[in-house]
Amino acid sequence: MDRKYDIAVIPGDGTGPEVIAEGLKVVDAVSHKYGFGVFFHPYDLGGEQYMRTGEALPEAVFESIKTRNAIYLGAIGHPDVPPGVLEKGILLRLRFELDQYVNLRPVKLYAGVEIPLKDKGPDDIDLVIIRENTEGLYAGAGGYLRRGTPQEVAIQESINTRMGVERCIRYAFELCRERNRAKKLTLCGKTNVLTYAFDLWERTFKEVAQAYPDIEIDYVHVDALCMWLVKNPEVFDVIVTDNMFGDIITDLAAILQGGMGMAAGANINPEGISMFEPIGGSAPKYAGQNIVNPIAAILAAQLMLDTFGETDAARMIEKAVTKVLAEDLKGVAAGCMGCSTSDVGDLIVEFIQAS
Ligand code: IPM
Ligand code: MN
Repeated sequence: MDRKYDIAVIPGDGTGPEVIAEGLKVVDAVSHKYGFGVFFHPYDLGGEQYMRTGEALPEAVFESIKTRNAIYLGAIGHPDVPPGVLEKGILLRLRFELDQYVNLRPVKLYAGVEIPLKDKGPDDIDLVIIRENTEGLYAGAGGYLRRGTPQEVAIQESINTRMGVERCIRYAFELCRERNRAKKLTLCGKTNVLTYAFDLWERTFKEVAQAYPDIEIDYVHVDALCMWLVKNPEVFDVIVTDNMFGDIITDLAAILQGGMGMAAGANINPEGISMFEPIGGSAPKYAGQNIVNPIAAILAAQLMLDTFGETDAARMIEKAVTKVLAEDLKGVAAGCMGCSTSDVGDLIVEFIQAS
């Protein structure tokens, strides 16, 4: 077998392990069907591990993860750990130190999935958001002055480098060309207020665009984009934006595809190790009940196989997801599917095996 993939599996917190288990079942099924090898290497990281050891991501564990071909992650976040510790210590550290500079989040509405928008269907909602993933407000630049006093000052700076902005924008243009849909790339920013950061973004965008005369370019302020995403999602093909705006608009966009149970993302380093995850959180209130929707995790696995170049396997997963959504599930929200988390995985695997 010449196609073999070593996958670091981080089930993580809350419902992470439940949804990842279903994703692994599906990857296993397509690997047999399409003749490639997958080896799952589990890593026990997350809130429980942190509370036991006091270390979010031990050095030796990180070194081991770095020897794998990809990372498949469930969710990070625990109610008993202060906010930021696990997010920064695990998720953001992996994104930053592995230089996964593109956060790719497809937003696609499948037939049979109900959403809050009336009069919008699968033909209207099929876009991709490219979020810069290593800079911006997430870079951690800033600090306090006089912390805890009435004169306290807190500064959190947005870091935007020409290199970081350019590589992200270039990736978005390439993807837009490859998708070959409307061939339209929208820059989402705030050039009217953030006149330094988004001036750099806009200049870079226009310069890079010169090499892509086949792609129509467009610019929309982030606030207006929130409105347009709800009002006319069909006007978007690919959207590129910075880290913070990308975080916000992808939660808004997730609801256009049925919610967090449906939204998958890829943290991509085109030259290194990429990480694939459902974009929702650890949902502790649903943990251990076998009721959350694993499709976001399964679609994250699909993105992973696509990135490996296993396009037939990736396409088969999407075909199976499409069928199960259209014919088998009653809904897509936790507790509303008419079946359990593991049933959804089983239905998808059955379809793959029968195809
Ligand atoms: C996401 C999440 C993370 C982010 C959190 C958990 C740090 O919301 O992947 O969108 O803000 O990037
Ligand atoms: Mn988010």
